[in-house]
Amino acid sequence: MREWSSHSYEKISILSDYLGQFARATQRAPNRVYIDAFAGDTINLLKGSVQQFPGSAELALGVTPAFTHVRLFEKHRARADALRSLASGESHRSVEVIEGDSNGRMVETLAGLPTQAPTFAFLDPDGMELHWSTIRTIADHKRAYAKQMSRSKVEMWILFSSAGIVRMLGSNRSFAEQQGFPETVARLYGAWGPWQAVWEARLDRRITPGDAKRAYLFLYMDRLLELGYHHLLVRPIKTSRNELYAMVFASDSPAGSRLMQWAQERDRVRPKPDTLFGVPEARPAYEDLHTGWRDEFPLDLPPWVELG
Ligand SMILES: C[S@@+](CC[C@H](N)C(=O)[O-])C[C@H]1O[C@@H](n2cnc3c(N)ncnc32)[C@H](O)[C@@H]1O
Repeated sequence: MREWSSHSYEKISILSDYLGQFARATQRAPNRVYIDAFAGDTINLLKGSVQQFPGSAELALGVTPAFTHVRLFEKHRARADALRSLASGESHRSVEVIEGDSNGRMVETLAGLPTQAPTFAFLDPDGMELHWSTIRTIADHKRAYAKQMSRSKVEMWILFSSAGIVRMLGSNRSFAEQQGFPETVARLYGAWGPWQAVWEARLDRRITPGDAKRAYLFLYMDRLLELGYHHLLVRPIKTSRNELYAMVFASDSPAGSRLMQWAQERDRVRPKPDTLFGVPEARPAYEDLHTGWRDEFPLDLPPWVELG
């Protein structure tokens, strides 16, 4: 069992809305694939209350029409066991729990999945665990088929934590280097270069913390554009004071992007610990902050140097 703040509930409720629409929009397809690279726990509790809510795996298994292929990665043994129990009795379709590191097991797992099927991947790490090589592997899975048949590559919804990068790199370069933090960030982007220039500028106080945070996020979105994802949406998940992380949606399809925008903008009720009633919240309209961001950014950034 894991405890979450009500902000995690917001992420889950957007996912729930989106998956329902994804399944409906692809109902004529003979197969439909769901990949959860960080599937988590099956029992999720709202912090400070006894209120439970479903995890991403349970939501995906409950969608109608059903996903025909579901792959759930989880490296934590007890959580993987719980996911296996959740998936037991699913003999009418292909559901597998992969216990271990999703970065290391993605290539072999995708090799066993149909490339023609509409496919959605949820990439929801706790922090900086997701490697760019995994994103690239997922983007390439359907690439040839998508190009030949004018279809979409795998759609992805990714948790990206700029605040996590700021915290990890910090303001003490030699400490960060001793700990190997720059290598962790390089694995996240799959490259060196622009993010290092942002870090340098922040260490010398040439840019504000807010500039650095935005740049880390928009650089990641630039990388997704380079993989051929032309419909990107980003949604900050915030407390009343801080931005915790951003959810980035990447798709080839304008229709997919419209559905995610709808799910993100939909009014929702946020549960409140220790009260019977949640708090109704109007969701702000989506704003595209990414397009043209480099024109406004106070630094010239160097080119990417790909990790070998
Ligand atoms: C934020 S939680 C996932 C929550 C879940 N997606 C949900 O919405 O219910 C992240 C999970 O990823 C797992 N994890 C972390 N690194 C991993 C890795 N490299 N491969 C697979 N699972 C990993 C953690 O054990 C944790 O349960």
